[in-house]
Amino acid sequence: MRNRTVAANWKMNMPPKETKEFLDKLLPEIRETDLNLIICAPFVSIQTVVDCLKGTKIHVGAQNMYFEDRGAYTGEISPVMLKEIGVSHVILGHSERRKYFGETNEIVNKKIIKALEHGLVPMACCGESLKIRGDGLAKQYIHRQIMEMLQGVRKEDVSKCIFSYEPIWAIGTGIGATKEQAEEGCMEIRRCIESMYGSETSNNVTVLYGGSVNSSNAHTIFPIQDIDGGLLGTAGLSMDFARVVKIREEYK
Ligand code: PGA
Repeated sequence: MRNRTVAANWKMNMPPKETKEFLDKLLPEIRETDLNLIICAPFVSIQTVVDCLKGTKIHVGAQNMYFEDRGAYTGEISPVMLKEIGVSHVILGHSERRKYFGETNEIVNKKIIKALEHGLVPMACCGESLKIRGDGLAKQYIHRQIMEMLQGVRKEDVSKCIFSYEPIWAIGTGIGATKEQAEEGCMEIRRCIESMYGSETSNNVTVLYGGSVNSSNAHTIFPIQDIDGGLLGTAGLSMDFARVVKIREEYK
């Protein structure tokens, strides 16, 4: 389903104590919103986020998970564990996972299928490097990522997923994509889904843009029809998150 969404990806920040202090300040500013809000915390802080968000409609997300339920996979976390503590969403295939931990579309595909099997909402990320963009291959690259990540995913499950276009060159750089670039990437996600599942499905999935979104540029991104919201890294770690939420509320 298509939802107006603002999500925070805290990455490897916010240990439990800091999480509580931050959410105590942030929550009064965002708790009344009717937007779909998701806080994706590091594993050890998830329980604190769950406790702090009790009684609100804000969702709790993880930033990764493994594609098996249990077993001898040292250091990994399973969807069963995430579900049990109250997690509803999970970021999969973030470019930092791909770059530093060797995740491929094939691995992300297995994770998406597993997350869906357990009723977790996959937040599937895609996006090109500067080199690929420079070579004029950004759209083809996004198309291929989405196709490979969705292999074997059923039509009725695709609309449960959230997709995020995150050009690598815009992440953490403070230089976000232009309105046109963000729109083009998000449209390519929908186009790929349309070619695989038809236009009803592609028109009904939530597609976010991520990459240096903050309260100074949110006004240029959120009015775009094909973009349902933002996935925030840096801005998700400060009170700027609340300002971005307010900006998202302004656009239907
Ligand atoms: P950023 O990160 O907002 O700091 O660019 C976005 C992301 O990686 O999801």
